[in-house]
Amino acid sequence: MKTYRIGVIGLGQRIAHVLAAMREVGWSLKVAGQVDPAPVGAQILAAAGIAGGPSFATPAEVLAQGPFDLVMVGTPNHLHFEHINLALDAGFPVFAEKPIVRTQAESLALASRLTQAAGPPLYIGLVMRSMPIVREVIARVDSGELGEIVSIDATEHLGPEHGGYLARNWRRRAQWGGSYLLDKVCHDFDIFGRIAGARPAKVASFGGRRIFTAERAAASRTWDDGEPAYVVPDPGWMGANDAFQSDMDVTDHQTAMVEYENRVRLSFHANSHVGLTERRWYVAGTEGTLIADLVRNRLMVRRALSRQKPERIDYGGRTADAHNGADQAMARDLLASLQDGAPFPVTPFEGLEAGLTVMAIDEAMTSGEMLDCRPMWARYDAAMKRS
Ligand SMILES: NC(=O)c1ccc[n+]([C@@H]2O[C@H](COP(=O)([O-])OP(=O)(O)OC[C@H]3O[C@@H](n4cnc5c(N)ncnc54)[C@H](O)[C@@H]3O)[C@@H](O)[C@H]2O)c1
Repeated sequence: MKTYRIGVIGLGQRIAHVLAAMREVGWSLKVAGQVDPAPVGAQILAAAGIAGGPSFATPAEVLAQGPFDLVMVGTPNHLHFEHINLALDAGFPVFAEKPIVRTQAESLALASRLTQAAGPPLYIGLVMRSMPIVREVIARVDSGELGEIVSIDATEHLGPEHGGYLARNWRRRAQWGGSYLLDKVCHDFDIFGRIAGARPAKVASFGGRRIFTAERAAASRTWDDGEPAYVVPDPGWMGANDAFQSDMDVTDHQTAMVEYENRVRLSFHANSHVGLTERRWYVAGTEGTLIADLVRNRLMVRRALSRQKPERIDYGGRTADAHNGADQAMARDLLASLQDGAPFPVTPFEGLEAGLTVMAIDEAMTSGEMLDCRPMWARYDAAMKRS
């Protein structure tokens, strides 16, 4: 196998984990240049036995070291638009972390660019698309086994340490992360759109900050076994010292209702400080029902008129990072795409539409009104026609 020359813009925890997974599944790779003022992922990369490669002061200087077989963008979300554009301008294949971009204006501008003259491929790290359990969910829906999809409910509930990390890391500020839902569950809304087979028509949402607030600064910070809580050692780039007393301006819990254009209805509930963690999709069709438990990596399916035991598939492979082997699966998909031209499981346009869906949900939450999404999709479609 050839050795892939990789350029990195933003060597944080995520890109380090993805590079480690690529190595683990058999990529031969070399980081031939990287830019990051304080690479949070350096130790993870070193632990995986991968050299960080020469570092440069700007993305332009890294890109000048080309040709690269892949440029990987893992900067905080507000920088994705700039860095993806620079890497595409340089003409190299790009892997960019989700959310693809942070704002509606950036989404329209990128959609416009991507529909113009063909450029290098752009792969988005919507890693759940590569998970065997998620592929099976999509296959079951597509097979018609569930009949017509009628309604969905879904959750993503994080434990206190994870929530406390989000409250201290750059994700706590909308200017960097976008929003709690945009950063955390654009994955899920990408899949919901795929399951529904339509775009959202109307959205409503309620949410706020009632957990990581200064008023709760005196709340217990000790686990019941005596271990200290909320003590992530390194909150990373622009990190804050304390989860309860920072300048956080995104929500720490949020609910959303979505009606898709084809009348599929969805409710969603996210909380970042729970005693019972959960990431679960409940998909109800006219003929059957499916529950995907993404934390335990288990799928359960039964026909509506069946009195037999439900079919249960346990995908196993649970890992401490809760990714359950998804990174390795995505690393294989990426290699198959670069090496053999195999289609990657998600397109940049699906990434843009997932992002726009979540942005509409956040807009509805801010306004306190139900939002009609049609004007947003009209702007998006117009952007793709512009050349
Ligand atoms: N697909 C997934 O499951 C998943 C999981 C985690 C994170 N992510 C995404 O990956 C991206 C990075 O997240 P992370 O958790 O690695 O964050 P991180 O804080 O660990 O890493 C971000 C890195 O970007 C660097 N950086 C900041 N400004 C920069 C600049 N101007 N130029 C170059 N580097 C710069 C920081 O120094 C840091 O090392 C985000 O977009 C995030 O949403 C995706």
